[in-house]
Amino acid sequence: MRLSTTLTGLLGLLPTALAACTREALLASAEIYIAAQRTGKTDGLKLASNFTYRENNKVIDISKGVLGSTALVLDTNRSTADTVACASYTMLISSGGAKPYILATQLRHDDGDPSTITMIDTIAATTGSLFFNAKKTLGYIQAESWAPLATADQPSRDLLKKVGDAYLDMWTDKNAADTIPWGTDCERVEGSSLTKPCGASLPHGGSSQPNAMRRYVIDEVIGSVDVLCAFNSLGNYPDSHEIRLEGGKVKYVHTITV
Ligand SMILES: *[C@@H]1O[C@H](CO)[C@@H](O)[C@H](O)[C@H]1NC(C)=O
Ligand SMILES: *[C@@H]1O[C@H](CO)[C@@H](O)[C@H](O)[C@H]1NC(C)=O
Repeated sequence: MRLSTTLTGLLGLLPTALAACTREALLASAEIYIAAQRTGKTDGLKLASNFTYRENNKVIDISKGVLGSTALVLDTNRSTADTVACASYTMLISSGGAKPYILATQLRHDDGDPSTITMIDTIAATTGSLFFNAKKTLGYIQAESWAPLATADQPSRDLLKKVGDAYLDMWTDKNAADTIPWGTDCERVEGSSLTKPCGASLPHGGSSQPNAMRRYVIDEVIGSVDVLCAFNSLGNYPDSHEIRLEGGKVKYVHTITV
């Protein structure tokens, strides 16, 4: 009797909890985050009681991070949504001002209530970061299309995760590069460094240090995966790798590395 009551209770809750984390809700939360970064004030954000702010792979007080301390004039923003992980990814570019920034941010939410943020996880690149030139990066980014893909063209979540992992494994696994479906006209924008086609000059192992601390935002509709990590293969660098597939093949790769 008690068991069946519990089960009924759980089944009653389940569909609501899963349905709540919609693409629209995640993108709306990302917009609130972007607005907060414009002002450098965090009072508009709905943060969970166990909220964590991480910047460049270190947990710090939000008021000390770029989000809580710096108003940025933004040139562009672009967000993706992961309805399974109840998370989003946003890329922001602020190229003017004394201190330009390129931010790669994942928001994680309470999966029963996507308006409540449990974690803001940012890679904040600025002057001195790898190949950093925000104006140059902006030029490349603005020429790209990240429009939603037609349903038949959307890669599976599984493929997106595999491509993201294989990419980060190239430095430690000599065979990883050959498992990636490179598009012939793909572009790689690493900081502000452009490589086209992106399948040219790839690493084939050589490091014994795997890239660690991988956090994923996977969006089948946009055909993208973003992975934040500690890029340990070449040193301990806070890093974001974002990849978009079109027609089942890699179209864009963006890296933001501190
Ligand atoms: C993000 O960029 C879009 C244009 O792509 C713009 O309409 C929107 O206002 C921007 N969001 C914020 C919060 O600035
Ligand atoms: C924080 O609380 C939310 C519920 O509000 C829960 O979903 C999440 O797992 C918690 N996170 C941690 C790290 O405890």
